[in-house]
Amino acid sequence: MNTPTDTDVLAAKEPEDSNAIDRVLVLEMVRVTEAAAVAAAQLIGRGDEKAADAAAVEAMRRAFDTLYMDGTVVIGEGERDEAPMLYIGEKVGMGADGGKAPKIDIALDPLEGTTITAKAGPNALAVLAAAEKGDLLNAPDVYMDKLAVGPGLPADVIDLAKSPTENVQAVAAAKGVEPSAINVCVLDRPRHADLIAELRALGCGVYLIGDGDVAGVIAVTDQDTGIDMYMGQGGAPEGVLAAAALRCVGGQFNGRLVFRNDDEKARAKKWGIEDLGRIYKLDDLAKGDCIFAATGVTDGSLLDGVKKRRKSTGATIMTTESVVMRASSGTVRWIKGEHRITPHRS
Ligand code: FBP
Repeated sequence: MNTPTDTDVLAAKEPEDSNAIDRVLVLEMVRVTEAAAVAAAQLIGRGDEKAADAAAVEAMRRAFDTLYMDGTVVIGEGERDEAPMLYIGEKVGMGADGGKAPKIDIALDPLEGTTITAKAGPNALAVLAAAEKGDLLNAPDVYMDKLAVGPGLPADVIDLAKSPTENVQAVAAAKGVEPSAINVCVLDRPRHADLIAELRALGCGVYLIGDGDVAGVIAVTDQDTGIDMYMGQGGAPEGVLAAAALRCVGGQFNGRLVFRNDDEKARAKKWGIEDLGRIYKLDDLAKGDCIFAATGVTDGSLLDGVKKRRKSTGATIMTTESVVMRASSGTVRWIKGEHRITPHRS
């Protein structure tokens, strides 16, 4: 029998499914997150969250227009009356082209970590997920209870219906370690005081992050972070974005929407959510051939941030680091970009 070459392996991984998202479009998505990250980076440490967000939104909006797709924002900057750009339902891309252009739904956060950026903290990202029409949960902008672990564990090892203690014990047993060896990433918020106390009582390491739970959830997929689990409440839109990434690289995720009042419940119903207490798993949040793309704004566990550099040629450039992943092939690409700001010396 012939031993398959690396090229054979790569060809075999390429999805034959005609519904797979166009490969070129996958790579093009990075242009969009790069543009948003470079724009937001001009405002790192300037203490102005709104300006940083607005710069990222505008740059991302413009970058979308260069993509051949019939795109619709399903998770965006807010509802039409509250967001001037990249609002839910907004059409992006070059348009339908008589029905020939791919119909793509997009979840986006042009600047995930507005406060981080304003304070020059770690882990701010420009991020998006894309999938075929109808494949991303149209999550309302409410909180979501999140529970995540990385790849390589038995199916359904985590269950949001169980207590944090039971989940830590289950993951510890699956990893063959004591619960005290488990490290859990949690957003540092007063609402998590009981959760943190429960985890500390088990002896767990609690890795508190100030903001940015998309990166926090994805950290469970990277052994180098030392983080075994993610727990706690953060934004539901960010939950869908993180779930799209885990669909591509593996791992498990449970999410349950959290409603603080009737208005939030009404908003969920408006987006077609009937079972308000439902526990969503990865495929419920992002199914089919989804894509996840992100570019670092500030340095973080997933990506380096945007840096300004002067080349020996005299040109000033901005460097970016991005990742783009696709669920159907499981391919993860790390992309370093150099964006020229001023020309070379002649
Ligand atoms: P923004 O970029 O919108 O500021 O979100 C940052 C973030 O930390 C998210 O990563 C997280 O899901 C959410 O805020 C948590 O919300 P809150 O700050 O209300 O606890």
